[in-house]
Amino acid sequence: MSEPPHLADLRALVGQPGSRGRIPTPAAVLDLDAFERNVAKMQARADAARLALRPHAKSHKCAALARIQLDAGAVGVCCAKLAEAEALAAAGIRRILVTSPIVGEAPARRAARLAAELEDFRIVLDHVDGPAELGSAAAAPIGVLIDVDVGLGRTGVSNVEQAIEVARAIAAQPNLKLIGVQGYGGHWQHMEGANARASAVAGGMARLSAVVSALRDAGHTIGVVTGGGTGSFEADAAQGVLNEVQPGSYAFMDRQYRDALKADPDGAFEQALAIAATVISTNHPRWVTVDAGLKAFATDAGPPIPLGLDGAEYGFFGDEHGRLTRPGGRDLARGDRIDFVPPHVDPTLDRYEVIHLVRGDVLVDVARIEARGASQ
Ligand SMILES: Cc1ncc(COP(=O)(O)O)c(C=O)c1O
Repeated sequence: MSEPPHLADLRALVGQPGSRGRIPTPAAVLDLDAFERNVAKMQARADAARLALRPHAKSHKCAALARIQLDAGAVGVCCAKLAEAEALAAAGIRRILVTSPIVGEAPARRAARLAAELEDFRIVLDHVDGPAELGSAAAAPIGVLIDVDVGLGRTGVSNVEQAIEVARAIAAQPNLKLIGVQGYGGHWQHMEGANARASAVAGGMARLSAVVSALRDAGHTIGVVTGGGTGSFEADAAQGVLNEVQPGSYAFMDRQYRDALKADPDGAFEQALAIAATVISTNHPRWVTVDAGLKAFATDAGPPIPLGLDGAEYGFFGDEHGRLTRPGGRDLARGDRIDFVPPHVDPTLDRYEVIHLVRGDVLVDVARIEARGASQ
């Protein structure tokens, strides 16, 4: 597929000394060395704890970065939605778990198509009607997992009885195979303090464990027990209920995790992703204006943090602009470039067409975010 001209221009910068400073802003800029170290570190933690690692691709939605995670030892990736899975599958990713339940015939047909195309496609269900919908669309066996609510209350069966009902409905479909369960606790990922997270995880894992035991007692084979995120890895490993973990943000890090995890082992990842912006106006005495506003950062987790500018504070200044108070000790000039720690990585990256991969001050590659906006 041919690329639009602005991407061809960008690719012409690749490899040139100092090219990082010439990337048009606002831009998602990934320090590839730091990203690779983060990927290797999480893989080593998972290997040491004998946990399969299936990173959540919702954080980056990018096949090139998924490939780096797979090459480092991940068993596959997670996708939050079918469209995300379709986009990554089209870009060559072959082992995908969809972590949200689907509803109705059309999504079931799309899931069946993915299952037919991919080396390993799996999906979660949490309602007794789900298996009949998916089973009628399936022309070949599809691996399914029962999503279990571990206290978040977002998706998942609420109790053992519902889990057994869904398992029976799966068993009644010749083309569905129950392969495991998922229990994801999004509500404890950003709790401050390793002890607080550990005790919340323990409660949730007790619920998951009860469902796994009941399903096994009822004669179902439960191989995969998947869940977990960046903030809960230590607790997940200690609990020993999961045998597969799905962290996503660890590879990039953001303000939200930096504030919550501080020096905990779960937070021992480098800030690999920056949003680069440019100072475009300096006429006001108390602040300068940068070219990154509401469209450049997710806004759910506070303002972004300017790197290397102690005392300067960012404030959203409309859709396209940000206000940065002048820091003591350094004058900011028109054209200066500023890197920001994004507040929340997943919805921030979803705003960008590409991720700029840099090593030092050199742009070394430009990776399309193929599943950007793919939330259907
Ligand atoms: C089902 C599921 N698994 C894993 C993750 C990854 O979490 P994190 O990015 O906090 O590591 C998420 C994130 O929202 C998720 O929804």
